[in-house]
This record gives sequence, C-alpha cells and structure tokens, in this order.
Amino acid sequence: MLFQPYLFLLRSTLNLFSNLRPAILYPQLADASTLKPEIVSGLDLMIVRELTGGIYFGQPRGVRVLENGERQGFNTATYTESEIRRIAHSAFKIAQKRNKKLCSVDKANVLECTEFWREIVTEVGKEYPDVALSHMYVDNAAMQLVRAPKQFDVILTSNLFGDVLSDCASMLTGSIGMLPSASLNETGKGMYEPIHGSAPDIAGKNIANPLATILSAAMMLRYTFNNEVAAARIEQAVNDALDANVRTVDIYSEGMTKVSCSEMGDAVVTALKNRS
Ligand SMILES: NC(=O)c1ccc[n+]([C@@H]2O[C@H](COP(=O)([O-])OP(=O)(O)OC[C@H]3O[C@@H](n4cnc5c(N)ncnc54)[C@H](O)[C@@H]3O)[C@@H](O)[C@H]2O)c1
Repeated sequence: MLFQPYLFLLRSTLNLFSNLRPAILYPQLADASTLKPEIVSGLDLMIVRELTGGIYFGQPRGVRVLENGERQGFNTATYTESEIRRIAHSAFKIAQKRNKKLCSVDKANVLECTEFWREIVTEVGKEYPDVALSHMYVDNAAMQLVRAPKQFDVILTSNLFGDVLSDCASMLTGSIGMLPSASLNETGKGMYEPIHGSAPDIAGKNIANPLATILSAAMMLRYTFNNEVAAARIEQAVNDALDANVRTVDIYSEGMTKVSCSEMGDAVVTALKNRS
C-alpha cells in the first residue's frame, strides 16, 4: 500500500481526470497477440478512463470492526455529476476525431453510482449528435474485448473498470510493453507514462520493452504540445523499428531478432535519424 497512494495523490493533485489509453495492434505484431490474427489485426481502440474519482478515491474506506466483532473491509464508489460530465465531454471530443463511435461501460444493472453514470453520459451525448453512443455492462465489455475487439472505437469508463479493461486490451496488442497513456487535466496539460508498472520481476535485466514509454512521448507531443508532426515521426520510427524485425522478448516471435531494452531504443533512434 505504499506506491499507489502516492501515484493517486499525484493524479488527483494535478487534476488529471482524463486518462487516454490507446490499444493499437501494429500489423508486425499480429503473431505476438494470444488472439487469432483475424480477431486483432487492424485493432485501433481508445479507452478513456476517469482517473480521479470513483471507488479508488471514495470515502469512507478502510477496515472496521462490526458489532459482532467480525472485521469488514469497505470502500465507497462515488461519482458527482460534474465528474461524469467532464470525462464524458473529453471522450465524446476524442470520438469526434476518430470513427465517431463511443461505448460507455458501466454496471448500471447493479450499482446505482454507475446507473447515474449512464444517465449523465446519455445527457451529454445529446450535445454530440454526430457520435453514435452505446452502453455496455462491464462484464459483457470484458467478454467482447477478447471476442470481437474491433467493434470498439472509443470506450468511456470509470476508474476501476478502466483499470481492468485497459490491461485486458493491452494483451490484444501482444504486450503491456506496447501501450502508452496520457493523463490530462482540463487544459490539456498532463502526465505521460506507459500503462505498465515498474515490472519488478524483470528489473535490472535490460529486457523490458521500451516502446510504450517512447510512444508516451509521442502522445505528449500530440496532446499537450499539439505537435502532430513530431508525434507522428516518433510513431513512424517505432513502426520502422518493428519493420526491421527487432523484438524485445515480450513481443518476440520466431524468425525475428531478439534484442535488449537498450538495443530496441537504439533501433528507434536509428529509424528516426534515417527519416530526418
Ligand atoms: N500506472 C502505473 O504507474 C502502474 C501500473 C501498474 C502497476 N504499477 C505498480 O508497478 C509495480 C509492479 O506492478 P505489477 O507487477 O503488478 O505490474 P507491471 O505492469 O509492473 O508488470 C506486470 C507484468 O508485465 C510485465 N511488464 C511490464 N512492463 C513491461 C515491459 N515494458 N516490457 C516487458 N514486460 C513488461 C512485467 O514483467 C510483469 O510480468 C507495483 O508497485 C504497482 O503498484 C504502476
């Protein structure tokens, strides 16, 4: 319980409520996914996760002793109307720039908090008539993500559900080491990081995949600095490195050249230089 609360404090203090988690399958990595290539090839979806509210922040929380002496762990799921409205606007605007399809994921059949979420998202949706809005329960969404992920364009969801679904989506792309993320405030300033954690099981071995971190820098150029050209250059360099058939161990498949973390970084730098 040490690391995450500090990270949560950073997110909430900087008001980084809008977490963008793209899941894109590079065609070169179709074999690295555990799903059949025809299910995942061409996958390009964006998960918009609310990041500063919901059950991860709700009060009261803790472990208490009941009257009968038994201990009980408890957390509280809350969302205010303004919290839902701002993340919904964020997601609809992103959908407008993509394929104009937004699926809001909740558990409105069981949790009042997410029934309210559905009601407000539907209201906000009326301001975006060009975006097709649908709703899905989170259990079905988890199933659909592995059954037919290409049905999704933008997924909008709460903090807890987004945490789980985005890790699930990462595996569609072959490895959690491929996925960048952006966490933005209302003015577009943000924190950029790969969706994975510190990977303690492989620390110090120089085998981690650096591409999610590199792609996070591309997101920073796009979303905070509005520099689409520079963002696209980095993404192209990652693409070129994959075309050169170099692979860290997490995305390795037969016939490819297995490289270390630093060698993969070098391959991206070489690709950048080759196109400049
Ligand atoms: N957004 C975040 O900051 C974030 C996200 C997840 C976990 N964490 C923290 O990170 C720490 C470790 O958590 P965890 O082990 O559950 O999750 P993790 O994401 O660090 O690792 C999960 C698995 O994915 C692998 N992996 C992760 N990144 C990889 C990469 N770049 N290349 C290849 N393989 C990679 C790891 O080796 C591990 O097997 C914990 O302290 C956790 O709280 C932080």
